[in-house]
Amino acid sequence: MKRFFLAAIALVSVMGGSTQARTAPSPLPQWLDTAVFYQIYPASFKDSDGDGIGDLGGILSELDYIHSIGVTAIWMNPIFCSEFRDGGYDVTDFYTVAPRYGTNAQLVRLVREAHARGIKVCLDLVAGHTSDRHPWFLQSRQADTALRYSDYYIWTDADSILPPGSNYVRSDAPREGNYLKNFFDCQPALNYGFARPNPANPWEQSVDAPGPQAVRRELKNIIAFWMDKGVDGFRVDMASSLIKNDPGHVATRRLWHEMRAWFGERYPEGVLISEWSRPEEALAAGFHIDFMMQFGTPGFPSLFFNKEGVEIKQDTCYFQTLGAGQIREFVENYTRQREKTRGLGYIALPTANHDCQRLACGDRTDPRQLKVALTFLLTLPGTPFIYYGDEIGMRFLPDWPEKEGSIMGRNANRSGSRTPMQWAAGPTAGFSAGPADSLYLPLDPDPQRPTVEAQNDDPASLLNYVRGLLALRKRTAALATRGEWQLVGDIGRPYPMVYLRRAENGPCYLVAVNPSGRRVEAELPVGYKGRYVYGTGLKDVRWSAGKESVRIAMKPVSAAVFRLDGRETGIRIEAE
Ligand code: NOJ
Repeated sequence: MKRFFLAAIALVSVMGGSTQARTAPSPLPQWLDTAVFYQIYPASFKDSDGDGIGDLGGILSELDYIHSIGVTAIWMNPIFCSEFRDGGYDVTDFYTVAPRYGTNAQLVRLVREAHARGIKVCLDLVAGHTSDRHPWFLQSRQADTALRYSDYYIWTDADSILPPGSNYVRSDAPREGNYLKNFFDCQPALNYGFARPNPANPWEQSVDAPGPQAVRRELKNIIAFWMDKGVDGFRVDMASSLIKNDPGHVATRRLWHEMRAWFGERYPEGVLISEWSRPEEALAAGFHIDFMMQFGTPGFPSLFFNKEGVEIKQDTCYFQTLGAGQIREFVENYTRQREKTRGLGYIALPTANHDCQRLACGDRTDPRQLKVALTFLLTLPGTPFIYYGDEIGMRFLPDWPEKEGSIMGRNANRSGSRTPMQWAAGPTAGFSAGPADSLYLPLDPDPQRPTVEAQNDDPASLLNYVRGLLALRKRTAALATRGEWQLVGDIGRPYPMVYLRRAENGPCYLVAVNPSGRRVEAELPVGYKGRYVYGTGLKDVRWSAGKESVRIAMKPVSAAVFRLDGRETGIRIEAE
């Protein structure tokens, strides 16, 4: 009974939809209300010139397909000139599209053609570092330290002693001293200054010093260059890393606040998406969207991988047929992040990305399992991000060969999430006209590998399930970005997970997912009729309304979305 009472309170609060409005630094662009992103790893999406590497021409040729999924925006990983020792995150020229991907003119055409289909285009902004072959760095390596770019990077004094394990890289440059890296050794950190320069390290400059201020201006120039060419925004790489020795990211947040004020005024329709993974910090700092995923705010790994970082350990994660997972960590953190970010922007739980395993990995590859996981991900509030290929169930391939810095160490093989998109049957899966052994990475060798061609016209396919879900989300405000979300049912008995969605003044929707291989039931204090509107199958779920409660019985590995009818009857609250 107590359980009922608590759940009923939850129900009342979501139905009331109470929101204390907070205001973002500039209004959120309206298109974000319904935005669904598709992330494209450009080297692996579609090759138009037969060199085995995906390119802009390939993306252009598949805009109709992208549109058909129901997404409204794309984010491409870096497409700029690069040494490609970290998949393009080691930029050598921020203003030019890498020749292997195409030209600036082609990018402008891509933006135009995407816009014609109602699709926005966002780029990847590598704000925190460059390649060590970038002309700025090449100049900053010079012995003369009074050159224009000398202070664009962080160099120690000649005789400084570095603690073991520090991020400084020993250098053979004419300039004496060592430079600070941001990620790999080939990615020297740009100098945005130190929040608390250590007087014992005289090379640590304050954020107001001329070098860090010049770097800030440079960042604005890059943003403006591409925004003025028509792009719609950026995903910002390692957005929280810019200012060094910055406990709580206080100074870094201030920097982004300044950026957002400038950006919002100049590009009111533009978006900034952060790789920060602490929405409460990132959105308060001015980002429109932040990911909640494999690092930072806990919760996401316990649903899909049960591990911080990039490692497969599925046995106790929630979305697994074993049914031995929990949702507490996710629910508590997600609820808290939502409370803290109301009115500021949106949280994104992506299906995967180029740094972590795909949804389909280990023994979670059955289309039915993926339908259940995608029902959850695509009926959450906030902004959905679908990683290319997840809509057809492409598999993560463990132990895949290294490519352009994809392996970061033991258990961190990113190649397995970067394999060529599987378009059709054939030796290159329709990805390239070049020979199969020339592809960016080897394809999934499974003869049954999923393809767009096989799924496109099959009403029961994962692809069409995703299309249907996105169409439902589009026509149902309650299930969309801004709707309310509230867990109902017992957090300690998480199979099935049941939650309510509601938009202001509209009908309430209830989503129930059962990733376990067991038949399960939930009892809820809802005096409503539930009408099945979407899911793995009408026969997978039974809704039996009692006098004051409803029992939802679910078959193994199933998902359902119900519309709750009978608003006029009000909500029944059980007395304790
Ligand atoms: C995060 C990116 O997602 C990852 O792919 C890259 O290697 C690092 N940042 C460094 O830029």
